[in-house]
Amino acid sequence: MSTPRAKPKYYLTTPLYYTNGMPHIGHTYSTIVADVIRRYKRMRGFDVFMTTGADEHGVNVERSAKKAGKSPQEFSTEIAVQWRRLWDDLGIAGDEFIRTTDEKHHRTVQWLFKRCRENGFIEKGHYTGQYCVHDNAYVVDAGPGDACPDCGRPTETVTEENYFFKLSGFQQKLLDFYAANPDFIQPESRRNEVLSFVNGGLKNLSITRTTIRWGIPVPGEAPHVFYVWFDALIGYLSAVGGPNYDERGLWPADLHIVGKEIIRFHAVYWPAFLMAADLPLPKQIWAHGWLLFDSEKMSKSRGNVVRPRPIVSALGIEPLRYYLLREIVFGQDGSFSYDALVTRYNSDLANGLGNLASRTLTMIERYFGGEIPNPAPGRETDVSGSAEFANEALTKVMHLYDRFSFSLALEAIWEIVAMIDKYITVEKPWALAEKPEDRARLAKVLYTAAEGLRIVAALAHPVLPVATQRIWNQLGQAEPLSGVQLDLLAWGQLKPGTKTGKPEGIFPRVDKSETIARIEAMEQEQNKAPEPSAATPVSTPAGTAAAAAPAIAAPAKIGIEDFAKVEMRVGQVKSAERVAGADRLLQLQVDIGDEVRQIVAGLALAYKAEDLVGRKVVVVTNLAPRKLRGVESNGMIVAASTPDGAPVLAGFLEDVPVGAKLK
Ligand code: MSP
Repeated sequence: MSTPRAKPKYYLTTPLYYTNGMPHIGHTYSTIVADVIRRYKRMRGFDVFMTTGADEHGVNVERSAKKAGKSPQEFSTEIAVQWRRLWDDLGIAGDEFIRTTDEKHHRTVQWLFKRCRENGFIEKGHYTGQYCVHDNAYVVDAGPGDACPDCGRPTETVTEENYFFKLSGFQQKLLDFYAANPDFIQPESRRNEVLSFVNGGLKNLSITRTTIRWGIPVPGEAPHVFYVWFDALIGYLSAVGGPNYDERGLWPADLHIVGKEIIRFHAVYWPAFLMAADLPLPKQIWAHGWLLFDSEKMSKSRGNVVRPRPIVSALGIEPLRYYLLREIVFGQDGSFSYDALVTRYNSDLANGLGNLASRTLTMIERYFGGEIPNPAPGRETDVSGSAEFANEALTKVMHLYDRFSFSLALEAIWEIVAMIDKYITVEKPWALAEKPEDRARLAKVLYTAAEGLRIVAALAHPVLPVATQRIWNQLGQAEPLSGVQLDLLAWGQLKPGTKTGKPEGIFPRVDKSETIARIEAMEQEQNKAPEPSAATPVSTPAGTAAAAAPAIAAPAKIGIEDFAKVEMRVGQVKSAERVAGADRLLQLQVDIGDEVRQIVAGLALAYKAEDLVGRKVVVVTNLAPRKLRGVESNGMIVAASTPDGAPVLAGFLEDVPVGAKLK
């Protein structure tokens, strides 16, 4: 049995992401949220453990690997390594990265199956149905040729001899469980959705496949492999001990964070599997909404994804964390916009928190030699007023964090920032400093500002771990903020006489259009690289979170047959115009000999649209079409990339006919 813990445990998970593609901002959002909860719960006295990981089996990965000319294992490993590295670079890696190809996971899946079988919940049968390969799910009530209701792709008819999980027997048990645990599914809208699904009756679920190879073998039942969901979900348990889960004492999970599209798997199948195996059930499933881009769910197949590395490279991870949690109401869909991201950065971080920290610390250095002043007691009422306000705010913010109302929690914290700012503006410490008789008043004003800042730093720490630690240290606080207990935080704990550190800029203001242009330029660069090797190094702008830049591997040598796969032709630009809302992008109509192609290219930083008309360019003509800022692009224009990111078009010194092939 597990050894007793000094603190209560809190085990939380992100989804285990598919390894058929690279992470985008949507996946990053889920992982950031989990990391914020992890840090918050630590500050509330929990012994926290967070699992994230990779879901590697299934037809999608198998097919992507085949396309890349690699074995599924090799292909999936390359991608899993990049996911893991990204989370490390962004400081959101959690405590365990479980891969569904891990040996310990295989053992756990096979063990869980055995338990379900021994308990009489597995039977053999035939299944013919419509299957969505993309979503790895049978589509109930669909006929041949019907589209998948979730992703819109055509379904495939499959007939297999499968093992079935007797899900139909769990309808009442699940309903009873939901009734006894009203907070199990969050938010309310998802709970209602799941309740109506379960109330509608449950069909037995086919949990093995014979049509694919790339999966965990069902012991003694070759060629059956487990269905991806009777594989991936179990990863949450494999990560914390699997069959020996009770030794570590982390299971059951306290929280599964998921996107709303996979709520059913988590809130219906998963508890049923666990009930069938006589294992404890997770405490809560929280399904958040989607990040939208151009009003659609961001996803690789729609070609409208935004990647995290370019943003982090230009602004740092902390502004991205702040923006996502502040701007998107947790549980609802929200639109992602570069404009809003940089606006939030400048207003709330540079002008808001950063400016408050720097003006407060600069004045303490200037007027009190870098020591927290002593607020003479009894003279004014402002300290007790602030104390009341701050203590109320503390309770309020913790309550909001507890409900995962991140946006409101941050709003409440920034109300304190605004209050202190206003207080400084009204009290004018710089004027008080002019008159010796106002010295006590000056001490009180600056003490109040510093103490308010200290409280703000602690409260914002889960969202801005690096910046708040720096403010904390500048206030002369030595201990790591992560070890501070929010329950013990109260107004007045800042000791007069504490030496403060050198004030330094935390969030330097940035130029909005220049920053967006840089992000878009990096995004373009990164999208040019074929997956799974897309990796823009993360650098850090002055004063933001330190994230290590991963080494960029030299490109591998390729044979002439690989080069021959790329078709390049001479094209001539017929017309060009700016893409609305994108500083770098031009939308071009390019004649490539036998047709005119629409191509979206990141040339606007270096070329005016009108100057390009008539120009001959080199076009990669056999790239799969994709959308950039919602505009379809059918090909790529070849350009050199200069160190400052400005493109220089490839061209010809002699005249060449339009449509001529390059070899
Ligand atoms: N492998 C399954 C999950 C198995 S969990 C045992 C899977 N993987 S996934 O790679 O498709 O990741 C889906 C998750 O990524 C979503 O549930 C959500 O957490 C996150 N997101 C992916 N796209 C997203 C948005 N556009 N917006 C917000 N979150 C998104 O499903």
